[in-house]
Amino acid sequence: MTQQQLRIIVPPHPLIQHWLGVARDVATPSVLFRSAITELGRWLTYEASRDWLPTQEISVQTPLAACPATFINPNIPVAVVPILRAGLGLLEGAQCVLPLASIYHFGLVRNEETLEPTCYLNNLPEKFAPFTRVLITEPMLATGGSIMAVMAELTQRGVDPALTRIVSVIVAPPALQKLAAVYPGLIVYTATIDEILNDHGYIVPGLGDAGDRIFGT
Ligand code: PRP
Ligand code: URA
Ligand code: MG
Repeated sequence: MTQQQLRIIVPPHPLIQHWLGVARDVATPSVLFRSAITELGRWLTYEASRDWLPTQEISVQTPLAACPATFINPNIPVAVVPILRAGLGLLEGAQCVLPLASIYHFGLVRNEETLEPTCYLNNLPEKFAPFTRVLITEPMLATGGSIMAVMAELTQRGVDPALTRIVSVIVAPPALQKLAAVYPGLIVYTATIDEILNDHGYIVPGLGDAGDRIFGT
């Protein structure tokens, strides 16, 4: 039997690299930063939906003949969980790719001293239906405190980590190590991996505070 491992996928796509560069640049104003994060949400969700969106085979009649065709299976639920605030920035792009997904908002904020997250909004259902595909939008995985809190809430509600995808923009080793220890079947899609966290829990070089830059605060 093969041992499952956390997979981190950095799609080698020029559009993803381009919008990451725009987002990193301190000179990028809030309005353009938002667009960059939206675009990253779109392309990273497109990549993450490979081998994850459930399909079904149905015969269709073309003007000339019957032929087999592959469609999205509407009977298997797909959910997006944006982690407020910054995860909202990736949501519009994710919804372009997954227009039928249900959206369950989850609000977290880190304490600036302890870096521990506190939940201030939980719109998750009590129980997810079996086989639900869940895509989490969370642009920054830094210490990993926030994403671990989200994963604990989701798995308590019946979500299968192997059917879960995280769409992020920049991820750092501490978060990846925590996820790998508890959720080996999970897959993370990200524009890049930055190795360093500073003393304030910020990713370096990173892009600064994603929520503040999206919302101009
Ligand atoms: C930021 C970011 C992540 C979290 C990541 O949230 O949006 O949710 O930090 O850090 P961690 O991996 O160390 O937990 P923040 O508390 O700044 O809230 P915001 O999204 O409202 O800005
Ligand atoms: N949250 C952010 O918005 N940026 C970081 O670098 C780390 C956490
Ligand atoms: Mg923030």
